[in-house]
Amino acid sequence: MSDISSKANDPQHIGIIMDGNGRWAKQRGYSRPAGHKEGAKTTRKIIDACQDLGIKYLTLYAFSAENWNRPDVEVRALMELLEFFLSRETKTLIKQRVRLHAIGRIEELPERARKALQKAIDATAEFDEWHLVLALNYSSRNEVLDAVRSLAKAAAAGEVDPDSLEWGDVSQHLYTAGLPDPDLIIRTSGETRISNFLLMQSAYSEFYFTDVLWPDFDREQLEKAIATYRCRERRFGKTGEQLSHPAAST
Ligand code: IPE
Ligand code: IPE
Ligand code: MG
Repeated sequence: MSDISSKANDPQHIGIIMDGNGRWAKQRGYSRPAGHKEGAKTTRKIIDACQDLGIKYLTLYAFSAENWNRPDVEVRALMELLEFFLSRETKTLIKQRVRLHAIGRIEELPERARKALQKAIDATAEFDEWHLVLALNYSSRNEVLDAVRSLAKAAAAGEVDPDSLEWGDVSQHLYTAGLPDPDLIIRTSGETRISNFLLMQSAYSEFYFTDVLWPDFDREQLEKAIATYRCRERRFGKTGEQLSHPAAST
């Protein structure tokens, strides 16, 4: 266990936009898929680090709905890598008692990747302490659209009263139903945008951007992000004074 673990104000849930594999490969004269392969090694290391640091939930943006627009050869390589990663890592996830979840339009993934994913999800379904969430064919806007469609159908069938709907009812229809919102979202590679990742769930997340490319990201970088998070004041609309003197908050 690292000595930075177990602080009361540590994030419970970290989301990561794993970016920069392509640039990492280009800098070395490698193909883009070689960069993704190296990125997958980082993914394994960061899962281990999160467990050591007591981070219960880790959500990784692995493939966006917009990533289908990449060249076919890269999309194919990414799907094969996903399949390979799942077949290789499931044993370790079981050993670590990590439960795997997937968010996104999973039904649209190629059959082999979808089956490997379902197998890994089923194999880890009994665990409830540690959670790894893979965002695959994920788009926040599609997520909202799917939630709206399902609520609209329920309302049309008379099962839901639109006037009594609250945010909690809507969030139960998101792919992330049952998962806590991310406390901290990290994006690597110097890009400072969200790219359609967890838009609803990140309403009050803290953001950390680093220039480090995903294949070069490591435990030390993660600890740096967590250290920065600890210095943030999460006010949720209140004043700083209310937070430091809760008794004087009325
Ligand atoms: C992130 O790395 C991985 C995926 C989006 C699948 P990129 O492939 O986006 O890397 P860059 O942005 O081209 O460097
Ligand atoms: C976001 O990265 C998606 C993932 C990390 C899987 P991209 O590299 O696809 O994002 P944009 O296109 O630069 O915004
Ligand atoms: Mg990118």
